[in-house]
Amino acid sequence: KLMTQDELKQKVAHAALKYVKDVAIIGVGTGSTVNHFINYLADIKADIEGAVSSSEGSTTLLKKLGIPVFDLNAVGTVEVYVDGADEINPLKQLVKGGGGALTREKIIAAASKTFVCIADGSKCVDVLGAFPLPVEVVPMARSFVARELVKLGGQPVWRENFITDNHNHILDVHNLNIMEAIKLEQTINNITGVVAVGIFGMRPADVVLVSRGDEIVTL
Ligand code: A5P
Repeated sequence: KLMTQDELKQKVAHAALKYVKDVAIIGVGTGSTVNHFINYLADIKADIEGAVSSSEGSTTLLKKLGIPVFDLNAVGTVEVYVDGADEINPLKQLVKGGGGALTREKIIAAASKTFVCIADGSKCVDVLGAFPLPVEVVPMARSFVARELVKLGGQPVWRENFITDNHNHILDVHNLNIMEAIKLEQTINNITGVVAVGIFGMRPADVVLVSRGDEIVTL
C-alpha cells in the first residue's frame, strides 16, 4: 500500500530519534515533519531535559506536551538539531522557510554541532530554487530588497498577511536557479534590510534522512 506524504513524514521523524539518544537538550525545528518528531519526543520526555525551539509554533506544541523549552542563550552549543526542509540538494544544502521560521532555524543550525534534516522523498532535488526562496526582511526595507532581488534574476512575491515570529515580513522569490548556493546566500545576506535568506548553504545539514516508500535513506 502506498504511504501518504504525511505517513512518510511521520516515518522519517521516528527515524531521527536514534540521533537524540543521550542528548539532554535537543534543537527542534519547525513544520509538519518536525511536529511528528515533537510527538515522538514527548514519549521519551523522561529521558531528556528539554528543547531549544525555532518558532513560537514549535514552542507551543513542545510545552503542551510537557517538554521544557530553553532559551538558546542559556544553553550555548546545541548537540543535535532536528529540522525539516523544503528542498534538499545532493550537497545537503537546503531551502527552508516555507513555514516562515527560517531566521530562528538558521540560528539554531549555526549553533548546533550536528544538524539532522528529516524529509519525505519529494523534497530531494538536483538544483535548489524550484521552491520559492523565502527571504525575511525588515518591513520598511521590503520594497527596496524586492528591487535588489529582481536585479539578481528573481521574482519576489510578498507573503501578505504574514508576520514572522521576529515581527518581520517574508518575500518568496520565484524563478531562481540556485547553482551556487553559498554564493547566492552571501549575496542576498549582503542586501541591507535582509534579516535572513532561506538558503542553508554555508551551514548545510550534516545528516539527511529521507523516507522513500518503506525505506529510510541516509545521506
Ligand atoms: C519552516 O520555516 C520550514 O523551514 C520547514 O522546515 C519546512 O517548510 C518543512 O516543512 P514541512 O515539514 O511541513 O514539510
